[in-house]
Amino acid sequence: MKTIDVCLSPDLIHLHNLKDKNVVIVDILRATSCMVSGLAFGIDHIIPFSNLEGSQAMKAEGYLIAGERGGEKVEGFDLGNSPFDYMDKKVVGKKVATTTTNGTVAIEKSRAALNVIIGAFLNITAVVNYLKQRDESVIVFCAGWKGKVNLEDSLFAGALVERLQNDFANECDSPLLVQAAYQSMKHDLVGFVKNSSHAKRLNRLNVHKDIEYCMKLDVFDLVPILKEGKLVLL
Ligand code: MLT
Repeated sequence: MKTIDVCLSPDLIHLHNLKDKNVVIVDILRATSCMVSGLAFGIDHIIPFSNLEGSQAMKAEGYLIAGERGGEKVEGFDLGNSPFDYMDKKVVGKKVATTTTNGTVAIEKSRAALNVIIGAFLNITAVVNYLKQRDESVIVFCAGWKGKVNLEDSLFAGALVERLQNDFANECDSPLLVQAAYQSMKHDLVGFVKNSSHAKRLNRLNVHKDIEYCMKLDVFDLVPILKEGKLVLL
């Protein structure tokens, strides 16, 4: 039977064998929520970079450049990392190069996977349907915060494990852990996530509406996938 596992932090991904697996990148606040929203809104494609220089250099190639560090937009970049930046009319039909504190690092560390797809609460059912129809095992890869485990990505992983439990066997214990956490909090996901460390960090930066938006379920029925280094819609 195909299996599912959960990597709770990029600092643990070296313990996982990504070969022949489908990896779901999740960074609910806010990188993967941005990527799903932007591609749905009409961005042609997104190239993720793990460093500022890589993203910045794409300006000369006609890309809009998006940069976030520590939750804040990097000065001189066209976009920050709010999903509302990615749903502005200026991005329609454009190419975007992006770098974020954690989300793009996780993507960079997933290159050995068979397929790398982008998951968020915003497109969770589309992700479930994609994974169910494929034969490969799955790793849900939580971007976390600077190597630490975070609540929102872990809850998404738990929601995914619960929705896939009849089609995938748990590879190890982290699926059990995140599913138990999700089951204990799913009655008030937004309330619990609003009390998370990154939500509080964003609040201190006067970012508020992003949090409720990123916790919406199934706003989009689409799955971004990494093809030749570019995030495009399946
Ligand atoms: C990340 O990459 O860690 C987050 O998306 C940061 C943020 O947007 O606040």
